[in-house]
Order: sequence, then structure tokens, then C-alpha cells
Amino acid sequence: MGKYYLTTPIYYVNAKPHLGHAYTTIVSDALARWHRMLGDDVYFLTGTDEHGLKIQQAADAAGTSPKEFADSIAPLFSQAWERLNISNDDFIRTTEERHRVGVQKLLQACYDAGDIELDKYSGLYCVACEAYYVEDDLEAGNCPIHKKPVEHVEEENYFFRLSRFEQRLLDWYSSHPGAVVPEHRVNEVVGFIKQGLQDFSVSRRTLTWGIPLPFDPSHVAYVWFDALANYITAIGYGTDDEKFREWWPVNHHVIGKDIVRFHNIYWPAMLMSAGIEPPSGWAVGGWLLVGGEKMSKTTGNVVNPLALIDEIGVDGFRYYVLSDTVYGSDGDFTYEGLIGRYNSDLANNLGNLAARVATVVGKKCGGLGTAPAPDSPLAVHARGAVAETIAQWEVVQPSRALEATWGLIRATNAHLETNEPWKAEPGPAVDAVMGDALEALRIVTILCHAAVPSTAQEIWRRIGMPGNVADMRIPKDVAWGGYPAGLPVEKGDPLFPRRTVA
Ligand code: ME8
Ligand code: MG
Repeated sequence: MGKYYLTTPIYYVNAKPHLGHAYTTIVSDALARWHRMLGDDVYFLTGTDEHGLKIQQAADAAGTSPKEFADSIAPLFSQAWERLNISNDDFIRTTEERHRVGVQKLLQACYDAGDIELDKYSGLYCVACEAYYVEDDLEAGNCPIHKKPVEHVEEENYFFRLSRFEQRLLDWYSSHPGAVVPEHRVNEVVGFIKQGLQDFSVSRRTLTWGIPLPFDPSHVAYVWFDALANYITAIGYGTDDEKFREWWPVNHHVIGKDIVRFHNIYWPAMLMSAGIEPPSGWAVGGWLLVGGEKMSKTTGNVVNPLALIDEIGVDGFRYYVLSDTVYGSDGDFTYEGLIGRYNSDLANNLGNLAARVATVVGKKCGGLGTAPAPDSPLAVHARGAVAETIAQWEVVQPSRALEATWGLIRATNAHLETNEPWKAEPGPAVDAVMGDALEALRIVTILCHAAVPSTAQEIWRRIGMPGNVADMRIPKDVAWGGYPAGLPVEKGDPLFPRRTVA
């Protein structure tokens, strides 16, 4: 138990949210919910990245001002997150005043430390990434991420002396093992640092859509410097010192692998320069691919999450993105995969368990739940599933955590199939089997709340448990034996009606 501060990336407002953003945000939400159940005091931040050339260009193309353009897109993100039942505590937009104040304070701190200096630079720039590349990074002359041509840009700008931080970053990573999950990602970061770090420009003079440098207002801040700072400006850096001290350092920056360089190299160096502690942790996800390509607004192969929700429900969608890909690896989105997983794990396993438990209790136990036996064989399964689920959430592996939870669902279904209480006469034998099944279902409901919050609450209600499942605490409330006899059990409509591929 303690404080748990976690963040999503702040998404560019150059286009509407897509499945990739939803994926990262749902992983973050599940972590936030899980940590609340662990008893942690949670601050969960998301938001939008609204400055820079990319947004300026999108606004130009739409024939509007960048601020108006951002104002029209930012709500699409907050609305999508509401629809997906995202429990964020805050939503920051980089056009907010609290952010400007904090960014200018951070710039000034790095400048005062002597790590920001005027210099000349020429290089290859990808507007979609808002980043420079060197020849070696390119694939057939194109940006390796967006597969689009880069531009040759020459500028006199303020530079952040990243090159001075090589050793400090290497020392920091070697003394903080486990800070990056999955752990193999840290090798990539360390390898990159060892190749030698180049200073990066932190200002633009040709652009006006940004935050003016406090020490030279003829320049605006480079969008990545501006954007990364959201993680501290949202919790009061520059505006509310007490709040900032309360929440910093962040426990997990949840990000995609495309933005590791910024989050794991630029960002800790910027913080070190300003005399602020680096983040405590990063969770780095892989990409969701469509037909083998990264889904991306810039590439244009996007899947709209809201259309999928209409078809399989919010929890069906959340479950799919959390369970279908091992966190950290790339996953391939297919419509068939989505429906297949929905039918097998939700309709046939969780939904079926809830339905048959309620049906049998209705027919054989007078509609009132019975108590579990302390020495049920299911109790052993439950203890194992609880321990494994906890261990996997701890290392940010939602798919493995859910696999462990679903193991208990399968064991409970198997327990029912072995005992066939639906064929037996009412009496103590049936009561015992159903008490065990109800208790397993109660535990499953607590364990799966982080992933499928509405479903968990509905099962909780149907098995007669009072209050909110979200208020249960792990591990205290997932100990075997918590289901009391005598609660009314309700069948209700199917939680997950089977779907066929359209
Ligand atoms: O990079 N698969 O914003 P962005 C999985 N504004 N995740 C994906 C994805 C995909 N195909 N596509 C996007 C930016 N994401 C900056 C961030 S943070 C200070 C500034 C997710 O709108 C993934 O988390 O391009 C990725 O890192 C993020 O969206 C990038 O969103
Ligand atoms: Mg992107």
C-alpha cells in the first residue's frame, strides 16, 4: 500500500483516437483499478499533446487555427475514454495554463543549470515523429516508423546538452534494475545510450504554435520538451509544490515502444538537469498491427475502437485488448480474433459460469446462495490463481494475469461438470458444490474487475453481494471462504451473448 501515480502518453490531436491509443489507455486503466484494489492511493493521468508542427499542419489543412483545431479533437479523446470506462483522475491538455507555467519553469531550470545553449544544427526531420534522424536510422530514405520521407532542416536553436548525460543515465539504469518492464526493453535503452547521445534542439523559431522560451520568447519550446513535461505539470510542478511532492516520482509511465527514446533518455536527462528525480518506472507496450503494419493515424490503417464496442460491448473490447497480446510484444488485430476470444473466454467461460451457477441455485437451492467448504479442492485452485494473478499484474502482464484468473473460471466450470449438480436432487451435496462455485465466482469477480469493471459489478450484484466490488481489497478479500450463505442469487440476461463473425 502506498501512492501509485501512473500516466498514459498524451496523444496528438492531429486525428481522432484509434485502437492503438485505446490499447495503451485500457492497459493503464486496468493497472490503476488493480492498484486501487491493492489499497494504493492512485493518481491516473492521461491527456492530449496539442502543440508543434504536426498539429499546426493538421490545422492548416483543415483551414482552421491550431487552437480551434485542438479544441475540436481533444474532447474526442476524453469522450472515448469515458465510453471505455477509463477511470482517469485527471486529463491534461498542453494548451492549459498550468502546463505553460510548469514548462517554462522546467526550461528555465535546465537553462540555469547550463544545459540549454544556443547552437546551429542541420539534420533530417520527420514531422510525424516530431524528431530528427541520422542517415543510419532511415529505411530506404524514409522514417523507420512512418515510412514517409524525412526533410532536411537547418536551424539555429537552443539545444539541450543530452550528450552530457550519457554516464549519469547509464549509472541510473544500472542502479535501478526492474525500472523498465518488460525488462528486455532496458537493454535497448542502454544500447542506445552507449552508441553516444546527441544534443537535441528544444526550441523552434519558425513556429509560433507552442510555449515561448522564458529566456528568449522569440522561440517556442520543441513539442517533445513541452509534451514530456505534462507528467509533472499536471501534478503541480510550477503551480502546486505540495501536490507535486506528494505524487512525484511517477510509478509507471505507460507508453508504446515508438516513444521509448523520448521517455527513457530525453526525459530522465531533462529531469536530472532540473534537479528532479527521474521516473521510478516505465511500462513499454508493443504495437497493435493491422495486416503486419503499425496502426497509425499517419499511415491511415486505423481501426475505430468505438465501432467495435457497439458490437461486443465495452468489457468485451477491454478484455480483448488486455488478453490477446502479451504486453510488450506486438499483436495483430483481426476481427476474427476479436470475436473468437469473445466467444471462447467471455461467452463460454465467464458468462457461462455465471449463468449456470445462478440457474442451478435457482432450481436446486431455492434461489439462495450456499456456503463454500473450507477444504474444497477449488480452494487450492483459487489460492494458486490469486497468487499468480497478483504476481502478473505486479510486472504489468495483463494477459498472463487474466490467464491465471481464467484458470480459476475453467476449474470451476470443470468442478460443476464433474459433479453435475443440475442432475442431482436438492440437498447438502448440491448445496456444497454450489457454495464452492459461488465462492470461486466471487473471487473471480474481484480479480477480473480491473479488466472488465461493469461485468464484475453485475456478477457481484447477481450473486447477492452488497456494495461495490471495486471497494474490495486484494489480497484480504480474495481469501477462500468469504461468500456467506443465504444471499439471493439472480440469473439475469446472458452477460455475453455469443456473436458470429459478420
Ligand atoms: O507519440 N499499437 O502521440 P501519439 C499500440 N504525443 N499502441 C499504439 C499504436 C499502435 N498501433 N499507435 C499508437 C505521441 N499507440 C506523443 C506522445 S507523451 C509525452 C507524447 C499508442 O498520438 C502508444 O502508446 O502518436 C504510443 O506510444 C502512443 O499511442 C503514441 O500516440
Ligand atoms: Mg504516433
